[in-house]
Amino acid sequence: MLKNLLGCVGEYKRPSLLAPLTVTLEVILEVIIPLLMASLIDKGISAGNMNQILYYGILLVIAAMASLTCGALSGNFAAVASSGFAKNLRKKMFYRVQDFSFTNIDHFSASSLVTRLTTDVTNVQMAYQMIIRIAVRAPIMLISAFVMACRINVRLASIFLAIIPFLGVILGVIIKIAHPIFMRVFKTYDKLNNVVQENVRGIRVVKSFVREDFEEAKFKGISGEIYRDFTKVEKILAFNGPSMQFCVYTCMLLVSWIGAHRIVAGNMTTGELTSMFTYIMQILMSLMMLSMIFVMITMSRAAIERINEVLVEQPDIADVSDPVMEVPNGEICFDHVSFSYSGDKNKLCLKNINLKIASGETVGIIGGTGSAKSTLVQLIPRLYDVTEGTLTVGGIDVRNYDMKALRDAVSMVLQKNVLFSGTIKENLRWGSENATDEEMIHACRLAQADEFIRTFPDGYDTHIEQGGANVSGGQKQRICIARALLKKPKILILDDSTSAVDTRTDALIQEAFAKEIPNTTKLIIAQRISSVQNADKIIVLDNGRIESVGSHEELLASSHIYQEVYYSQVKGESDDAR
Ligand SMILES: Nc1ncnc2c1ncn2[C@@H]1O[C@H](COP(=O)(O)OP(=O)(O)O)[C@@H](O)[C@H]1O
Ligand SMILES: [Mg+2]
Repeated sequence: MLKNLLGCVGEYKRPSLLAPLTVTLEVILEVIIPLLMASLIDKGISAGNMNQILYYGILLVIAAMASLTCGALSGNFAAVASSGFAKNLRKKMFYRVQDFSFTNIDHFSASSLVTRLTTDVTNVQMAYQMIIRIAVRAPIMLISAFVMACRINVRLASIFLAIIPFLGVILGVIIKIAHPIFMRVFKTYDKLNNVVQENVRGIRVVKSFVREDFEEAKFKGISGEIYRDFTKVEKILAFNGPSMQFCVYTCMLLVSWIGAHRIVAGNMTTGELTSMFTYIMQILMSLMMLSMIFVMITMSRAAIERINEVLVEQPDIADVSDPVMEVPNGEICFDHVSFSYSGDKNKLCLKNINLKIASGETVGIIGGTGSAKSTLVQLIPRLYDVTEGTLTVGGIDVRNYDMKALRDAVSMVLQKNVLFSGTIKENLRWGSENATDEEMIHACRLAQADEFIRTFPDGYDTHIEQGGANVSGGQKQRICIARALLKKPKILILDDSTSAVDTRTDALIQEAFAKEIPNTTKLIIAQRISSVQNADKIIVLDNGRIESVGSHEELLASSHIYQEVYYSQVKGESDDAR
């Protein structure tokens, strides 16, 4: 696990090493300074030797300056190293997420990925900064103070050794209790992020349904959960300091008691006992620092585990070793295909689909919501892999294609389509990076988007806001269709992509497709019969199964579901006309 993370230190190895090095120098100087001071007093001031005063005085100033410089440098190196480490870690995670299949993303949820890339990385960054600086400083300080104490009196100093196991047990118990709570708090963070993200993205819906109170209550609930967990965990962690102090003061008591006896017996000087106390204080300080580090590490351990989960998640859809680089044609064949989102064969979403679509055919897909229409077509560009059976495109199993080659040949307008912030042109170029203006205009003409784009003051350079908030639903759908067309795909899939487009424009789009891209296989999922009735064949899906396949006329004669949908819509239209 740590190997995965440490790889991210990358080009920041130098500051990562320099930080502990300078900190070590700083501590050494800090320990030397009292010695110089003692010499200055003993050999200089007490002896009245001006030369010695100057000599040790200058040395003292140099040591103090050097210690200060080292301290500042180590702070600087640690900051550079930890921010750089966090940057690399975030980048590695982000790149990983880009490789995720839809299944991988379903596994984490988008908001959890956001928390992991932000809050969790920040926690690890802080822990890293602490480890390369304070975690080096504290033990060195501890050891040198201990060594100094030993130089005075080994038996007295060994009292410290006795308390170490005791401290270890306390810290161990604290960490054992605190770790699961931290794990839970981070999960709640995911939920909080989800609420905030959902609310902010859907703020217009929230407002139009006057659901602000409800959203506030939901937020308060989760925020309260985090508050309670954090209070609980902080209470446990608060035991840390007092137990340290208890140990150290116990030591002091013992040292005073034993030391006093020794002074009386003439085995020790008062001065030695005084220095002993100085070292005890230094040891106390370093123990406090160490316990702080333990807290930080406990907290970041939860974060590290969550980050690691992202890093080790295997993209479940990967290229084969010798992939096919070219999709020969737009033929599609489902052979006994079953599919389940969870991979569980008892919870099949698509059941035993057998279907042959010739290259260049236009196929309509009709079915109620939840009948698995979207699921069926998502298998074709391999957004998900089939659970059972085989799916071939152009006669070759989709799993044997190079992913990019397949997805370039299969262009899909998702039901939940998105435009990105940027100009219309920039959005269109997602379809084809090097598309010329003519190609873009042509694609937009086919998608019946050219006309309305021209009415915008900035035309194709109109800025689209995040999520396409400043264009209408139907306009957005048409830009998305144009974007898909720019790929010049062999297979074009429209998943309910004209639902917000008026019937007449919809018909114009179908007409343009039939005329201009006759060789492209077209799969059109629609709610309106009018969108699919001219298709070569229409598939009626019901609850993950193909209920029937046929032309409009055939289905009207044979399919119960199709008849029902058709007559309800025809009746609706004639009602409208009245
Ligand atoms: N990402 C997903 N994870 C788990 N189940 C899903 C997912 N997407 C859809 N489903 C389920 O699969 C079924 C079919 O959904 P879908 O193909 O979207 O239907 P349609 O497009 O016909 O409305 C539904 O029961 C839905 O709950
Ligand atoms: Mg759907």
